[in-house]
Amino acid sequence: MARLVVQGGIPLHGRLEANGAKNAALPIMAAALLAKGPVTLRRVPNISDVWTLTGILKSMGCLVEYDGEGLMKLDTSTLTTTKAPDHLVRKMNASFDIMGPLLAAYGEGEVSLPGGCNLGSRPVDLHLAGFRKLGAEVTSQRGFVRANANKLRGAHILFPKVSVGATKNCLMAATVAEGETVLENCAREPEIVDLANFLVAMGAKIDGLGRQTMRVTGVEKLHGCDYSVVADRIEVGTYLVAGAITQGDVVIENCVPGHLESLLELLQEMGQDLEIGHDHIRIRGRSPIKPISVSTEPYPGFPTDLHPQLVALATLAKGTTTVTENIFNGRFMYAMELVRLGGDVRVSHRDVIIRGVKQLDGAPVDAPDIRAGGALVCAALAAHGESTISGVNFIDRGYQEIEKRLAVLGAKIVRADFED
Ligand code: UD1
Repeated sequence: MARLVVQGGIPLHGRLEANGAKNAALPIMAAALLAKGPVTLRRVPNISDVWTLTGILKSMGCLVEYDGEGLMKLDTSTLTTTKAPDHLVRKMNASFDIMGPLLAAYGEGEVSLPGGCNLGSRPVDLHLAGFRKLGAEVTSQRGFVRANANKLRGAHILFPKVSVGATKNCLMAATVAEGETVLENCAREPEIVDLANFLVAMGAKIDGLGRQTMRVTGVEKLHGCDYSVVADRIEVGTYLVAGAITQGDVVIENCVPGHLESLLELLQEMGQDLEIGHDHIRIRGRSPIKPISVSTEPYPGFPTDLHPQLVALATLAKGTTTVTENIFNGRFMYAMELVRLGGDVRVSHRDVIIRGVKQLDGAPVDAPDIRAGGALVCAALAAHGESTISGVNFIDRGYQEIEKRLAVLGAKIVRADFED
């Protein structure tokens, strides 16, 4: 079993270029199912979730070539089945992204209920309600969802709750539905805008990108295109926290600072020194780290996917921080791992209460999900002495070669195989 071994206490210094966003690349790969022609994608991150979706699409007959360095070519015209392989779908929540495109492009799809990070319950009822509104017949039995439609018809879909996944799936399905679809109370995450831009590059007609209401005028078919994925704001945010918690000096290049406004404001409130450029962010760690109070919210609010990393930073603040989790009811499993590193972290209902300590100390810890892994790596980088981090398979799902990227910044971190 691979683990990361970290010798902490070294301030990080240097520059990193942001990778493409996991949460944009995955739905964009899924949306390629809608294309009647080859698709070229650039800046696709080399993370295991991308390989999992590559495996799903290939096992359904699609041609996917990925060079592991950002360039991916897809030809989905060779699709042989609309049933997705259960053993791969279970590996990640985002695999359900293929349902909307399958339904729209092929009139049917069968996808098992997705698996993925253990953040609490991850229902897909809002996706299914949207498909039904578009005229699909949807059944969910024994863990499998089946959807059929001769032809999807434009509809008015009002999401009762803001959902990234449901917005993506219904948006993709609506692009080739007959007539106009109005999507209301949409999620507005930059990755949704990126997906919408990709759909537009394929010939879709979408108004209201990045707004709560989007209007989609169905077109007969979408064509292939060449598209570059947006920067990963969550990866960028994690490395900014790593810079701050080690009291280092880190520049992240080729990113979109505007996508990180909520985090940047909080880091400033925490006393950290930021230089925000057009496409770069520099952070210089400053002491004392000041305590804050924050809640996770849909974009443009503070993202749930940066909650554990911010808690890691707050363990070393001078005072008590509260982070309230409003999106996922089970996103707290990392808290006990931070306690192992010497943090004073308590969970009460949806609140995480962090009383700052003077020092963290290295310890063996286990990453329970992707972003918890990012948080534990940040904390281990600041902790005195050696930490070993297991659960690296989760970290690899969302962070490309994390140990190599951090080593560029001077961190002492290696991947090693351990016998369990
Ligand atoms: C996506 C992201 C994830 C991020 C999350 C919130 C991907 C691959 N994943 O997840 O990293 O943390 O957005 O920004 O992009 N819900 C329902 N019914 C549904 C769908 C969702 O009740 O049909 C609930 C969820 O349980 C959750 C909330 O709505 O409590 C938000 O979920 P959603 O925005 O859909 O997140 P995901 O798309 O799963």
